[in-house]
Amino acid sequence: MLPPPAYPTARPRRLRLTPALRAMVRETHLRPEDFIYPLFVRHGEGVRQPIPSMPGQFQLSMDTLVEEAQRAWDLGIRAVILFGIPAHKDPLGSENVDPHGVVPQAIAALKRVLPDLVVISDICMCEYTDHGHCGVINAPETAGFNPQLPEGYVLNDPTLDYISRAAVVHVQAGADMVAPSGMMDGMVAAIRSALDAAGFEHIPIMSYAAKYASALYGPFRDAAESPPAFGDRSQYQMDPSNAREALREVQLDIVEGADIIMVKPASFYLDILARLKEQTTLPLAAYQVSGEYAMIKAAAANGWIDETRVMLESLLSIKRAGADLILTYFAVQAAALL
Ligand code: PBG
Ligand code: ZN
Repeated sequence: MLPPPAYPTARPRRLRLTPALRAMVRETHLRPEDFIYPLFVRHGEGVRQPIPSMPGQFQLSMDTLVEEAQRAWDLGIRAVILFGIPAHKDPLGSENVDPHGVVPQAIAALKRVLPDLVVISDICMCEYTDHGHCGVINAPETAGFNPQLPEGYVLNDPTLDYISRAAVVHVQAGADMVAPSGMMDGMVAAIRSALDAAGFEHIPIMSYAAKYASALYGPFRDAAESPPAFGDRSQYQMDPSNAREALREVQLDIVEGADIIMVKPASFYLDILARLKEQTTLPLAAYQVSGEYAMIKAAAANGWIDETRVMLESLLSIKRAGADLILTYFAVQAAALL
């Protein structure tokens, strides 16, 4: 019998000695193609309205939107996702289904200049409704009123009809992909049938499959001017306490025909990402949301953290946990470093 070695023979530090060695054994790499860049578009010309709680992000008009997307494209970013700020809001969010609405116009403007850019449209109602909810509200004066349900409840199936129409309108305007973020039951199936019926069988759906009722959406709601006027979104978005429920949501969306599955938010939900990676072979996306962005920006502005390093570490962690794609307001800033 040999005596036990004086030192353990396994020494992980051997592979950390030099930058070259570390580069050789690096497991996760960020690429500009990983990023989907969220953009806010409003009516007007030459608008570049700063969003106070999201330093470096702006509400853009069609012309400045195209400039921003061009900047992203030139850095290797291949996709943007659009959120619209309508000219007016009403109970049914009618501008979202208007072919001349802010987002259909923006899609057309982008595709004219950047035909190969993947333009994704988030077809949720909440930016367009005066009550700020992601669906049709149960009220006696509204079609689909159900006296068995409480007033103010977001009606599931009337909302499906509405977002299916929005999907078709945005795709007719040139969108390459639609992304429903409303967390209605059956939304993927409803949109899939509507797109297929309109001849758009080739247009993929990226489903916000596991979207949590998070407090991290605050800055987005400033940006999109879309906070709910009453109540909150806990009757449709997921409870942050639940993990197994995310698997169920994802299984349903897969059966319904989703092409990409998303988890949202990202950083606080890395366990969900890691578990879903084992459960699906579909591409997995994660949304690093406005609050995650704002926290990093705010701490960095105070000099408390190194912005660039924390930004890259956050994105790397999301990818390492299992995300194939990352929706992030840092897309341009990060891509410029890669
Ligand atoms: C709309 C929507 C929201 C976000 C994306 N789509 C807000 C919400 O659900 O209240 C949040 C994105 C972010 O915070 O960056 N349903
Ligand atoms: Zn919504």
